[in-house]
Amino acid sequence: MVRESWGTRIGFIFAAVGSAVGLGNLWRFPWMTAENGGSAFLVVYLAIVLIVGVPGLLAEFVIGRRSKRNPAGALRRLAGGSDSWGLVGLLGVFTALVLLSFYSVVGGWILRYVGASATGAYFGNPGTYFGSVDFGVEAAAFHVGFLALTALVVAGGVRSGIEKATKVMTPVIVVLLVALAGWAVSQPGAGAGLSFYLDFDPSYLESHPVSVLQAAAGQALFTLSLGVGTMITYASYLGEDNSLAFDGSVIALLNTGVGFLAGLVVFPLLFALQGGLSETTAGGGPGALFVGVAGAFNQIPFGRVLAVAFFGVVLLAALSSSISMLEIPVAYLVDEHDVPRRAATLGLGGLVLVTGTICALNPGLFTTVSGPVVDTLLTAGLAGFLVFTGWVLGKDALAEYGTGSGALARSLGVPWLWSVRTVLPLFLVWTLALSFL
Ligand code: PFF
Repeated sequence: MVRESWGTRIGFIFAAVGSAVGLGNLWRFPWMTAENGGSAFLVVYLAIVLIVGVPGLLAEFVIGRRSKRNPAGALRRLAGGSDSWGLVGLLGVFTALVLLSFYSVVGGWILRYVGASATGAYFGNPGTYFGSVDFGVEAAAFHVGFLALTALVVAGGVRSGIEKATKVMTPVIVVLLVALAGWAVSQPGAGAGLSFYLDFDPSYLESHPVSVLQAAAGQALFTLSLGVGTMITYASYLGEDNSLAFDGSVIALLNTGVGFLAGLVVFPLLFALQGGLSETTAGGGPGALFVGVAGAFNQIPFGRVLAVAFFGVVLLAALSSSISMLEIPVAYLVDEHDVPRRAATLGLGGLVLVTGTICALNPGLFTTVSGPVVDTLLTAGLAGFLVFTGWVLGKDALAEYGTGSGALARSLGVPWLWSVRTVLPLFLVWTLALSFL
């Protein structure tokens, strides 16, 4: 069977940006920022994206394009058939399924909120409404709906499923978000939200340096879809003419820009219309978006229309990310076990239907999985990919990095390889150790 590939370079970029831009930007980033001191968190997060995120993204690209395989097959193959390295890749396949199990539950909430925005169902009391729909049988049913949409795209294949869908979704997300941000910052009273978000205030960072650093690191990996093998898998469908460094920089830049824009929508709304960070919004729980922001819409003219637009954007963003999660195990079954794509999608969809339902019925489990479990899996996974790229691939990684690159990118190759070999994995292992202490 001929292995699939992207139809165009921009198709790959849109798909990867679609994977990166998701609930991490629109749901997790604003509440992480709120919980960790606002502007100072933003600065630390941006630094980690640049110093750890971009080189990490390039390492995954190198593994993917060199091997033309899913993560498990990629590491085993490139390490000359080593089963131990294969297991490191297989961890990514497993992580993808864990991620999708909780992500799809949140996706289900969003699906429900698009409809509830149109009818104004939560306008009377957003807090009570969210509390009555977040977990339980109905939440499980919406999770199944969201998962079905995800599976439909993945079953269509790389070019006519993922590429076609994300080529439309990604630009729509960006354009709508720019419009929403423009509108939000022009609301009377938005200034207080903007200064919480943008005026640099180091006091929280000074009193909580470790927790801010950890939260910023976890968020940076999550938002760039790193440590799972998504970017390995997506790059495995690439040809040799892409400059990995250029494409990676564009993807990171667009993703960070969207995260930043999300903050420009969320904080002005919370401050202008909700009077600041209430218990729910500052508590960092899932409620930030569904109670704080949703509640703002009931106070403004055309609130329903704006709310549908807002949750519509979030839905598109969530879908283009969940697609990339499901693609990892699907690629694994297709590459390694010759399972036809549709059957693989159906089988894995059935599996996540069950695991996601368990999450939708258990708030405690959901919180543990979506927080500490995911952070640990992503950090460990990326550390493994970096050590592999730096020490097992070594010079070959440098050659792969250089293929298709311009002179500037190539001149950065050696420093990139050394950071991948040394500081970056050490940094990740250190944050991992801190979280266990
Ligand atoms: N980057 C996605 C987001 O910000 O929502 C989440 C994600 C997708 C994480 C795919 C990991 C992954 F493999």
